[in-house]
Amino acid sequence: MKRVLIVGATSAIAQATARLLAERGDRLYLIARDAAKLSATAQDLRTRGAAGVDTATADLDELEKHEALLEAAAQTLGGLDIVLIAHGTLPEQGALEGSYAATERELRTNFLSVVSLLTPLANRMEAQRGGTIAVISSVAGDRGRPSNYVYGTAKGAVSLFLQGLRGRLHKSGVNVVTLKPGFVDTPMTADIAKNALFASPETVAKGIVRAIDQKREVVYLPGFWRAVMFAVRAVPEPLFKRLKL
Ligand SMILES: NC(=O)c1ccc[n+]([C@@H]2O[C@H](COP(=O)([O-])OP(=O)(O)OC[C@H]3O[C@@H](n4cnc5c(N)ncnc54)[C@H](OP(=O)(O)O)[C@@H]3O)[C@@H](O)[C@H]2O)c1
Repeated sequence: MKRVLIVGATSAIAQATARLLAERGDRLYLIARDAAKLSATAQDLRTRGAAGVDTATADLDELEKHEALLEAAAQTLGGLDIVLIAHGTLPEQGALEGSYAATERELRTNFLSVVSLLTPLANRMEAQRGGTIAVISSVAGDRGRPSNYVYGTAKGAVSLFLQGLRGRLHKSGVNVVTLKPGFVDTPMTADIAKNALFASPETVAKGIVRAIDQKREVVYLPGFWRAVMFAVRAVPEPLFKRLKL
């Protein structure tokens, strides 16, 4: 039985992951913004066999509350074996181009709030000398594209931060997993036309649980995205800037 904290627990990908963890009897602590959705999610996980499900509501843009949130989760669970950070927003790039304030808000939600959580969390896991930190980044962070470079910047920064953190924490037996999904069919992508590249949250969730269990470092979900992004990163910049991406 693992003690698992899930931040952004009402995300479709987080819910699918939590269901797998509940079914194997893990003990869960869920943090999310929407109290009604959170309560329904918790109830569902209890019926699926979780050893226990506790919850806390929080707007994760309120960074100053993060330490207390983590403390409450760790106290309730009696320690943290696994932490999954899953919250995020996919802004419309065009709407950000005329507004630094809106851009800053998106960077706060998708990057700074993750750093704000990881800073005390890393110290806690380092002191307990074990555990897994898994964070949902994105393939969008692998290369800047005109259609979503603010989101991509946030995710790229998350991936880089995790890379450094992994190097620091592995000496303490703490594993840091960077999860890089491609397109996933969730509320976040509701307005995007679906195509063969889309995966279900359930498929991605299986990959997340496998990556955590196998103590992987950087995982593309589904795995074919590793080859796709290798090719995308290999395109020379003079050509890349001309592509309509
Ligand atoms: N879907 C994709 O194609 C895709 C691809 C790559 C990576 N990802 C990443 O996967 C993660 C999960 O996304 P998803 O696809 O599962 O989308 P989702 O179902 O829309 O989930 C996003 C979650 O983030 C929460 N959230 C956003 N801002 C928040 C805030 N300030 N405070 C608290 N919670 C906040 C939302 O809460 P509310 O319900 O209260 O709004 C929602 O539960 C995200 O990090 C996303 O960037 C998604």
